[in-house]
Amino acid sequence: MSNDLMRSKRGLQLDRVVLLGRTFEEYRRYFLLEPDDLIGKRVLDVAGGVSSFCAEANKLGMKVTSFDPIYSLPPEEITERSEPDLESVYRTIGSVPTYRWGYYKNPEYMRELRKRASTIFLRDYKIHPQHYVAGELPRLSFADGEFDLTLVSYFLFAYQDRLDYEFHRESILEIMRVTRGEARIYPTVTFEAQPSEFIARLRSDPALQTFVFAEIKTDFEFLVNSNSFLKVRHS
Ligand SMILES: C[S@@+](CC[C@H](N)C(=O)[O-])C[C@H]1O[C@@H](n2cnc3c(N)ncnc32)[C@H](O)[C@@H]1O
Repeated sequence: MSNDLMRSKRGLQLDRVVLLGRTFEEYRRYFLLEPDDLIGKRVLDVAGGVSSFCAEANKLGMKVTSFDPIYSLPPEEITERSEPDLESVYRTIGSVPTYRWGYYKNPEYMRELRKRASTIFLRDYKIHPQHYVAGELPRLSFADGEFDLTLVSYFLFAYQDRLDYEFHRESILEIMRVTRGEARIYPTVTFEAQPSEFIARLRSDPALQTFVFAEIKTDFEFLVNSNSFLKVRHS
């Protein structure tokens, strides 16, 4: 077991936010996306990291911008940081009981998909740097209502042991400032496969009463109980 990544009794325990990336197909399933409906739409991928969603979706005709602190780094440095993260998770995840292997079958295939995602990302990051904006929640450097749809995959809720409630509230306020349509946040559980208790607090938070929250079920589950996303709209 590495110093950086430790396995708890149940869930995968990460001592920081790791640099792993998913493919377009994984995002499509996480968020129940209908690609044809998104052609020409402005989409923001917050905490996009080394995911290939931005690269693949732009190729399909969507107008995607990805936002992440790592975009202040050159490609080589991103590779140096993401490869050890993937290897640590790959070595550990097979024996963690909070995962269902129906889609990925085994850790080898999961690693293959993660590598595919980061390879596609890195190529695109060099060719289209304008699609990748460096920055950190809870602030977004975009205009009010700039995006039709904003996505957040594996950052909010999943990492709630590192990111407190106030961070979640400020992040959602900021996400909804730049989003004219809706935001979708996946998953709604922690790495312990437990529903995030922040969701009930967000729904009743006086600062967020101009938003409507709905938990939408999906048929995709890798992390146990991760078959839903939180949809947030302006009321
Ligand atoms: C587990 S990765 C998820 C990447 C991608 N969304 C996916 O699902 O494939 C988490 C990402 O959150 C990014 N991150 C860390 N702190 C952040 C912050 N304050 N604001 C935005 N992104 C952040 C990390 O750099 C990393 O790329």
